Amino acid sequence: EGKFVIITIDGPAGAGKSTVAKKVAHTLGYEYLDTGALYRAIALYLRDKKVPPVESDEMRTALSNVDIHFEKERIYLDGRDVSAEIRTVEIETIVSSYAKLSMVREKLLEIQRKLGSLGNIVADGRDMGTVVFPEAILKIYLNAELKERAKRRWNDIKASGRDLSLEEVEVQLKKRDEEDSKRKHSPLRVPDGAFVIDSTDLTADQIAERVVELAENVIKSRGDCR
Ligand code: CDP
Ligand code: CDP
Repeated sequence: EGKFVIITIDGPAGAGKSTVAKKVAHTLGYEYLDTGALYRAIALYLRDKKVPPVESDEMRTALSNVDIHFEKERIYLDGRDVSAEIRTVEIETIVSSYAKLSMVREKLLEIQRKLGSLGNIVADGRDMGTVVFPEAILKIYLNAELKERAKRRWNDIKASGRDLSLEEVEVQLKKRDEEDSKRKHSPLRVPDGAFVIDSTDLTADQIAERVVELAENVIKSRGDCR
């Protein structure tokens, strides 16, 4: 068992994972670990190097040379701030095809475990509670109806000045969820022992409060061993 407290939040796209994880991390004074950003950055990196989403020696070499790190919730790829670039629709359409490869997942497993050993964290993604941090003291599975998740994502896209129809967003989201849930390595699923929260009719603040309360109860019940 590690020294630090780990709280995991898994779930499909647009469920509210990152919004809730940030709020919980802020309230508890923990770090927020955005593992989706790592997968997006790797997809951007390999695409720029013209390495297709198929395991190859070329991919292995590229992955062994990549430098990804976070600083103040911004993500850097080989020293360049790519926080905005990884959020484009283009990356969103390719990210799952890279994320399904075990070569990519193994590389990121190493990075994620290292980040999880440095301090208390709230980590969000698809396999946080199942594979990366099975020892987490609290596991959340956040879900919401597809229509609601698509609407949320569509609002984000509109706010950033891009033009995409709600239908297009919904189709994309559904496709990515299917790819993430049906893949062989670390598919999205409810971790054993996770609390399942449906966020369809809840605000991010309501969910964050609920998660903080659950966390405080677990920490209290574990006694003063830390
Ligand atoms: O924000 P959103 O939920 O749309 O996506 P994200 O969390 O940024 O993750 C982007 C993609 O990375 C997902 O669709 C997955 O393909 C992949 N991912 C993963 O495979 N495992 C994780 N722990 C996190 C993300
Ligand atoms: O990280 P994930 O893809 O699961 O979702 P997110 O990026 O945290 O949330 C997507 C959008 O939905 C954001 O604009 C949130 O502010 C919004 N949201 C919401 O309207 N209601 C919630 N209960 C949670 C998130």
